[in-house]
Amino acid sequence: MAKFNRYLITAALPYANGPVHIGHLAGCYIPADIYVRYLRAKKADVKFIGGTDEHGVPITIKAMNENVTPQDIVDKYHKIISDSFTDMGISFDIFSRTTNQVHHETAAAFFKKMYDDGLFEERESEQYYDNVKNVFLADRYIIGTCPKCGNPNAYGDQCERCGSSLSPDELINPRSALSDATPVKKLTKHWYMPLQNYEPFLKEWLLEGHKEWKNNVYGQCKSWLDNGLQSRAMTRDSNWGIKVPLPDAEGKVLYVWFDAPIGYISATKELTPDWADYWCKEDTKLVHFIGKDNIVFHCIIFPAMLKAHGNFVLPENVPANEFLNIEGEKVSTSRNWAVWVHDYVKDFPDQQDVLRYVLCSTAPETKDNDFTWKDFQDRNNNELVAIFGNFINRTMVLMHKLCGGKVPVFHMDIKDAKDDALIAAIQEGKKKIEESLENFRFREALAEVINVAREGNKYLQEKAPWLLAKTPEMQAENQKVIDNCLHLCLQLTGNLAIFANPFLPFTAKKICHMLKVVDRILDWENAGSLKLVSVGYSLRPPELLFKKVEDDQVKAQVEKLHAGLKKSAAETTAAAAPAEEKVEAEPKALIEFDDFAKLDLRVGTILEAEKVAKADKLLKLLVDIGTEKRTVVSGIALHFTPEEIIGKQVTLVANLAPRKMRGIESQGMILMAENAAGKLVFVNPNAAVEPGSEVR
Ligand code: MF3
Ligand code: ZN
Repeated sequence: MAKFNRYLITAALPYANGPVHIGHLAGCYIPADIYVRYLRAKKADVKFIGGTDEHGVPITIKAMNENVTPQDIVDKYHKIISDSFTDMGISFDIFSRTTNQVHHETAAAFFKKMYDDGLFEERESEQYYDNVKNVFLADRYIIGTCPKCGNPNAYGDQCERCGSSLSPDELINPRSALSDATPVKKLTKHWYMPLQNYEPFLKEWLLEGHKEWKNNVYGQCKSWLDNGLQSRAMTRDSNWGIKVPLPDAEGKVLYVWFDAPIGYISATKELTPDWADYWCKEDTKLVHFIGKDNIVFHCIIFPAMLKAHGNFVLPENVPANEFLNIEGEKVSTSRNWAVWVHDYVKDFPDQQDVLRYVLCSTAPETKDNDFTWKDFQDRNNNELVAIFGNFINRTMVLMHKLCGGKVPVFHMDIKDAKDDALIAAIQEGKKKIEESLENFRFREALAEVINVAREGNKYLQEKAPWLLAKTPEMQAENQKVIDNCLHLCLQLTGNLAIFANPFLPFTAKKICHMLKVVDRILDWENAGSLKLVSVGYSLRPPELLFKKVEDDQVKAQVEKLHAGLKKSAAETTAAAAPAEEKVEAEPKALIEFDDFAKLDLRVGTILEAEKVAKADKLLKLLVDIGTEKRTVVSGIALHFTPEEIIGKQVTLVANLAPRKMRGIESQGMILMAENAAGKLVFVNPNAAVEPGSEVR
């Protein structure tokens, strides 16, 4: 840790146009909070910066649709989001907003400096304009009939029915999503940042200098850089946002992705007069916690901006997570397929740590992962209740019963190998947790916490002090052994509070309360200590730290999820605003021809399709590929009924190694496209093709 003397930790600023769901927590806020709590426990100088992102087109559209002002929208959601984070114990030092005055000034000044330094290109281009609403229209806000499939509500960038990507010019009868007016083309001027000029810097700083970044992050950045960067407009035509601070810029605002990350700087300014220490001194460790859809902005565009402006530190790491799916399906806010944090807090009062625990243990650290309520129940019941809570509860109960409610003495003269092993396990656990946390491996760190508790249970089971005290006479004879056992178990309990604190802060507090120790005990310097509770001290009666999650609770949550599901975005009215600023899909790394040539792709015809028992996502297909018929198990059951796909043609990866799923051997994989709404669509050949035809 020597290189850095202070930490600046940021967590992505969520758009203030909807509440936060558990995917947000797992992807970004829980890992960030764990890291910050750990740093604080180490007494590091750390600031944890958050807030809401309150600009951008979708917010204006939502306001228009609901007949309120954009300010009304962001006021409402800022409060909801902020409350959700507070309830979940996400311990920001400041939770600010990009509509604040300080931010407007900071972002405008940032832009102005870059402008004055000649770092923007000014360009005119034709863009679609809505004459009724008097606004320029992003492609997404132009609707018309899809030239490919006839969907009357295709968007100007994509048809959500057939999945084709489109440009507004291709739409038949284009109309504005805002007014139904026919859009007209109009000349407009914008300021572009020539990102290609920053390629050498980015390659050197990131690709050469940060090979230690997580694979998913490094890989995505490398693809962007390998594919080459282009100039990107840093301004937009809108009346909602930060006004472009130039004389001839009426109706122009900063691009939301230009202003939002500067929000981290503005919020730090609001927080402390020493903000510049955090942002400008080289011995600051700046870490951005984000979800994967934010990688390009935090690893490429914002660093390029910081570099262009000058005088700022660059992020030392960006440990982005992938996405958390819910019950096997991608989260969709428009379809309401999500577990909302404010709902959780209501349905599971005083059980924030359970969600923190489950989301950390299933966090999509290296790849997308799935949240299911069944798994939530299992982890709570089998890990928190049965291992962690059980150990502490048994310790407390036995101490009250066998040691008169006081911390017993430890008799050095009878210390045995089992005691030594437990003491070693505590030390070992401490080291592993530190090492994992410092490398952003939160799942691993949390698993180690549980491991230490597991060791405690094993120790208690082996020592079995209750067997030594079956009668008062026996107890009198064995008291020294009993004392040693419970003394160590109590010290371990204290250590578990320290270890768990970054992850389960509410629980750590409860343990401190039971042990009658002040919260200061949770400082990391006390980790591994065997003097956390003092001999002779009388402790409080045990209180249960965790309770079982029952089957009916699981059932109710799953039902709630399904009941809340709205029609898929493809069927809802076109005027429904997309929730987010559209982000380009990440480009994949280039491959050699040889890699491609390894694939055996064939056209096949689906002959049979049936549901797989007890697996709501899977269909078992029989696919004719000319020379033979293949059984394929495919995860498409939530998108298609068996009947509707029989007879359809698909492309099949024919030489994929067979894999067993639910006991059925799958002999290949069929290819599908996923549209922006997360719906799967067929990518079948234009005209019927002989089964078995090679795809090249
Ligand atoms: N609002 C963005 C999103 O939800 C995140 C912005 S992060 C910031 O995807 F750094 F730009 F603020
Ligand atoms: Zn279409």
